[in-house]
Amino acid sequence: MLNFDFYNPTHISFGQDCIAKLDAFVPADAKVMVLYGGQSAQRTGTLAEVQKALGERQVHLFAGVEANPTYEKLMEAVQIAREEKIDFLLAVGGGSVIDGAKFVAAAVPYTDEPWNILLSGGADIKEALPIGTVLTLAATGSEMNNGSVITRKSLQAKLPFHSNFVFPKFSMLDPSKSFTLPERQVANGVVDAFVHIMEQYLTYAVNAPVQDRFAEGLLQTLIEQGPLALSQPDDYEVRANLMWVATLALNGLIGSGVPQDWSTHLIGHELTALYGLDHAQTLAVILPAMMQERRTPKREKLLQYAERVWNLRDGDEKQRIDAAIAQTREFFESLGVKTRLKDYDLEQAAVEAVLKQLEEHGMQQLGEHQDIDLAISRRVLEASL
Ligand code: NZQ
Ligand code: ZN
Repeated sequence: MLNFDFYNPTHISFGQDCIAKLDAFVPADAKVMVLYGGQSAQRTGTLAEVQKALGERQVHLFAGVEANPTYEKLMEAVQIAREEKIDFLLAVGGGSVIDGAKFVAAAVPYTDEPWNILLSGGADIKEALPIGTVLTLAATGSEMNNGSVITRKSLQAKLPFHSNFVFPKFSMLDPSKSFTLPERQVANGVVDAFVHIMEQYLTYAVNAPVQDRFAEGLLQTLIEQGPLALSQPDDYEVRANLMWVATLALNGLIGSGVPQDWSTHLIGHELTALYGLDHAQTLAVILPAMMQERRTPKREKLLQYAERVWNLRDGDEKQRIDAAIAQTREFFESLGVKTRLKDYDLEQAAVEAVLKQLEEHGMQQLGEHQDIDLAISRRVLEASL
């Protein structure tokens, strides 16, 4: 029986030139910190567009939020925001900048050591500065959710937190902003969104046909539009569809009331923390091996996925599941995202290192049944080599 709360307070403005609407959404008297990444926001002109839209407001620019944003860098922003009495944060970038802004938002009023935000998974956040976002990369869904993933370089730890206090108040989604992305980031975005849907869909049946069919539709849209985004890089409509899929993939809707997995993500985070693989690269490596390893507990959903998403109807159950896993791997490879650890020059030593990290971070009960222990994670990692 379905039983859930669905809460999502983020306003979305979608479409070309929607950045101009910032003026209506940021309080006129706000002291704004604009956070952005390395160079792209400046190079592409998006930062200038944002500054123009903010008009006469007091604005403090904070540059240099890294891909896989770090606690070390973000604490600089926390200090400045406290000193300057910043009262609104505007993230201009992809998931990393948005996640970074969420951390700063929660850390500024936090009275304890801010790393505890990650150690508590966000549970003890009592307040946060308001955030808005201008999205430049379709992938994470961070623009419309309450999650954030932060890396502490000194500990080689990459940990998530969640809190309803860090939902963006609004997000500006202008698909044309994604035209300047390198191919690798476009492909990463497709894979990340795909795996977000899978982590909420490929579990066990709970008679939730709305969530299932919504998830299947989003997966099929990615399978259709993802390759087009690479082959027709100037097509606005393709980019628009991709951006909206990625947002809907992780805004809470398809995950409401259904079991969720997230084991692929949590193992993947360790690979990024240790070896710097892009987030989506880790997912493309782990997911096919995880599907293979979990084919018995996930049997019913794997068969449904095979039939409804890949239209696989021939052969016995084993053949259909094999084919669905193979199609998933081929899809990632077709986008240019590699699916083996050895493609990233990682060998058995990496398996051991990831297992050690999982143990240190208490990741011994993963998956929708909390039964993916270190022995199972080992098999998944070894199958990913
Ligand atoms: O730093 P700059 O110069 O801005 O370059 C960025 C970055 O190097 C570049 N980029 C972004 N927009 C661009 C652009 N380049 C040209 N044109 C543009 N329009 O792209 C690079 C990657 O950006 P990043 O923000 O790191 O990518 P993504 O959006 O994939 O975010 C990944 C991060 O999000 C976390 C991941 O773990 C990772 O740290 N995730 C957050 C989630 C959430 N909050 O719900 C869920 C996800 O599962 C994920 O874990
Ligand atoms: Zn992800």
